[in-house]
Amino acid sequence: MNDLEMCRLATRAVHAGTRTPRPDFTPAVVPIHPSVTYLYDQMENLDGVFAGTHPGYVYSRYGNPTVTALEEAAAILEGGEAALAFASGMAAVHAALLAVGARAGSTVVAAQDVYGATYALLDKLLRSQGVETRFVDVTDLQAVEAACAELQPAALLVETISNPLLKVADLAALAQAAHHHGAAFLVDNTFATPCLVQPLALGADVVIHSATKYLGGHGDALGGVVVTSAALHKELFEVLKVTGGNLGPQEAWLVLRGVKTLPLRMRQHCKNALAVAWWLEEHPQVRRVYYPGLASHPQHALAGRLFQGQDYGGVVSFDLAEAGQERVFRLFESLRLCLPATTLGDVCTLALYPAHASHRALSAEERARIGIGDGLVRLSVGIEVVEDIIGDLAQALDACL
Ligand SMILES: Cc1ncc(COP(=O)(O)O)c(C=O)c1O
Repeated sequence: MNDLEMCRLATRAVHAGTRTPRPDFTPAVVPIHPSVTYLYDQMENLDGVFAGTHPGYVYSRYGNPTVTALEEAAAILEGGEAALAFASGMAAVHAALLAVGARAGSTVVAAQDVYGATYALLDKLLRSQGVETRFVDVTDLQAVEAACAELQPAALLVETISNPLLKVADLAALAQAAHHHGAAFLVDNTFATPCLVQPLALGADVVIHSATKYLGGHGDALGGVVVTSAALHKELFEVLKVTGGNLGPQEAWLVLRGVKTLPLRMRQHCKNALAVAWWLEEHPQVRRVYYPGLASHPQHALAGRLFQGQDYGGVVSFDLAEAGQERVFRLFESLRLCLPATTLGDVCTLALYPAHASHRALSAEERARIGIGDGLVRLSVGIEVVEDIIGDLAQALDACL
């Protein structure tokens, strides 16, 4: 493990995750362990595992060897002390908020354009349980500072690259603002992945992923991961033990297999996304393109510094000129290669209409306030040959006129 920590990210991605030696051989790939429970010759050892003084497993809600392998990989890639895997990205977001103290009477400050279900979790479910959330534009540091000073929140929650408007958060500055007011700083790094930035190194306390997206990368496993310090991991584990949003071993294995090619895939996603963004910017039917790699993006300079000037992510959003649901639906029905599907981060190019999918839980007024218009389209650019992606978008844009 120590040797691996010395290696570059793409090498770590290939090898990270437990390769547990057996007495006579070591599987090169971690096995899928479906067993719910575990047997020990000595009851004392079982008792020790319960107490945490003896290594091992007792029951899958408390831990599973295949899931542990993914957790180790996630911790290594994000540079954290420990990680826990969850049944979905939303289970991970929920547990992370509870672990840092989102309880009745506490407050949270969150980015106003977080993923729709995260917004609904904070604005509806947690609010109904006595947790007040103030949504702010996190690109306005003064507004964040003012909200934290006023509320002294338990947590500041942001997405490194927001969904779907692709705003970029100044992680180091936000970490300072959070800590200055005693808040834990939670970063959803789903869109950026550790390939672009590792938020813990910039002061984040908790990094969250929907592993369903780039970590898994193939659209065949739902999952979530939280990477954090050893101390916060304990709190998180207490939440997981009683809420039970555990990731299953089959899914953990699929995500871990995806992780091995994450840096390779991300490089291609980002290269293709930049080419698609440039092309869309010139298209007469496109009113505005949102992509941090474009010079026209309001946080382009920040993104360059944060992601070290190389890649800017695989998601591109754009406003179709003078369009509403009917025309966007026509566009989606005209696609022949890109898939109109409700996810992102897969190897294939995916198109999503935020107003009816990811941000459906928000009212039209809430969407308008955040800036999610009725003509907004989100593309998760895949790793296909980029000319094929652009060719498909070109014919679909013509067809939906
Ligand atoms: C940024 C972000 N965070 C969290 C989630 C929730 O993940 P999941 O669908 O795995 O629950 C999503 C889903 O799209 C997302 O885009």
